[in-house]
Amino acid sequence: MRKILIVNGPNLNLLGKREPKIYGSESIDDINKKLTECAAELKLEVEFFQSNAEGSIIDFLHKAGTSAHGLIINPGAYTHYSLAIRDAIVGIDIEAIEVHLSNIYSREEFRHKSVIAPVCRGHIVGFGAEGYFMALAHFAESRKVN
Ligand code: DQA
Repeated sequence: MRKILIVNGPNLNLLGKREPKIYGSESIDDINKKLTECAAELKLEVEFFQSNAEGSIIDFLHKAGTSAHGLIINPGAYTHYSLAIRDAIVGIDIEAIEVHLSNIYSREEFRHKSVIAPVCRGHIVGFGAEGYFMALAHFAESRKVN
């Protein structure tokens, strides 16, 4: 079974409590539970990781990336400046999809730039938690094609 890594960066452990008008009322555990069920239906295996630390995210990518088929990543605020996470994605040579709950382009200007997006297959913004499911659906579809 193909394994997809689902990685969430800083402050996403606060989902449900953190600015619910922007990020929704579901906790990360609620979302991950539904993603696990959805993945099983799509015949994909998922492995979750959340960290508030840049280095921990990079270490996880180095370790888990070798055995995974794809990566869904919401790097949180690291999106806007972590060249180290960007290099890690390139370094493990994995197809990645960047997901943001909010529409980063309709918010503060500093959120408009992603340094991660150029090394991803695509990115999904503004659909709330649904974005993770859309990304998962892509990997299920690409499984049929590749
Ligand atoms: C976010 C957008 C980022 O700008 C922000 O720092 C986050 C969440 C999103 O999912 O909309 O932490 O990645």
